[in-house]
Amino acid sequence: MIVLGIETSCDETAAAVITGDGEILSNVVLSQIDVHRPYGGIVPEVAARAHLEFADLVVKQAMDEAGLGFDQLDAVAATGGPGLIGGVIVGVMTAKAIAASQGIPFVAVNHLEGHALTARLTDDVAFPYLLLLVSGGHSQLLIVRGVGDYTRLGTTIDDAVGEAFDKTAKMLGLGYPGGPPIEAAAAKGDATRFALPRPMRGKPGCHFSFSGLKAAVKRAIDALPPGALLDQDVFDMAASFQAAVADVIGERTQRALQEFKKQCPDGDSLVVAGGVAANTALRARLDEVAQQEGLRLAAPPLQLCTDNGAMIAWAGIERLKAGDVDGLDFAPRPRWPLDPDAPKAAGAGVKA
Ligand code: KG4
Ligand code: ZN
Repeated sequence: MIVLGIETSCDETAAAVITGDGEILSNVVLSQIDVHRPYGGIVPEVAARAHLEFADLVVKQAMDEAGLGFDQLDAVAATGGPGLIGGVIVGVMTAKAIAASQGIPFVAVNHLEGHALTARLTDDVAFPYLLLLVSGGHSQLLIVRGVGDYTRLGTTIDDAVGEAFDKTAKMLGLGYPGGPPIEAAAAKGDATRFALPRPMRGKPGCHFSFSGLKAAVKRAIDALPPGALLDQDVFDMAASFQAAVADVIGERTQRALQEFKKQCPDGDSLVVAGGVAANTALRARLDEVAQQEGLRLAAPPLQLCTDNGAMIAWAGIERLKAGDVDGLDFAPRPRWPLDPDAPKAAGAGVKA
């Protein structure tokens, strides 16, 4: 089986070709970061136009690098949501056109399921496992029981953790996206200098909250002597912020692991995915927490943690193996929770 996967739900235009046994024949990712950088964040309209301009080229490059023609594909998968709808429409229409012209199945993949199943491609992880998904748009803890079978244990009641990295970086003048420069600055800083809060730590359940942490960073910056921030202030603030994030995510994940062990005594892995999973300090903390609970940590390589086409092709393959395909009448979905039955998380602007 050979499947093309297309990802266009955020700010990467990406396409990949994968075989049914998980060999990656090509994996092309075109980042729009330079297009959005002047705005300090992603502008949905700008993203949609960029996807429209480049989707064909990225797909062609993925096919060329795999050395295949469309007639050698067995199926085509595209992110069907959730995400910025303009981009999702571009990817879905491109995939449907290829599927219709070749008479092959089309699979609409849930972007979050793409992240969730990547560890099965890279580390051969067996169901069930606990997934920590931490990206610019999501902070979730989910039990992955099988394809299409998820139980959400926690989510954020306000900002996503990647958003907190990006906003903190902006306040510190570190540019966009904020995760990598914060991590680099933190390596030179003193994490004990600023006493930042650990929101939700020790509370029942496994939900996250990051907006109070962001506000505390702003207050701490405002309390410094007026004038430009000194380099050491930036380093110490980045280190203090990153330590707070690692503490909170470590504690929330440990609680979720304890719940996971109760619900799934035969599960043996904690899987981490999403762009924030690139953070070395966070990975180290998660490794500790997993070991304390007697489980192993599986963290896909960096280029498969951030958005890419391979994860969509692979989730498409998993769905096809489960006998699942979509019709060409599939409508792109701006919202598409993995666990539609999860109770709503109460928080700012969200009703319980
Ligand atoms: O998964 P992703 O590429 O895109 C989606 O949001 O779907 O995640 C992007 C997020 C950004 O907020 C970025 O700042 C964060 O991942 N990130 C990091 C690191 N590298 C990327 N956060 C912390 N440490 C990093 N090294
Ligand atoms: Zn993503």
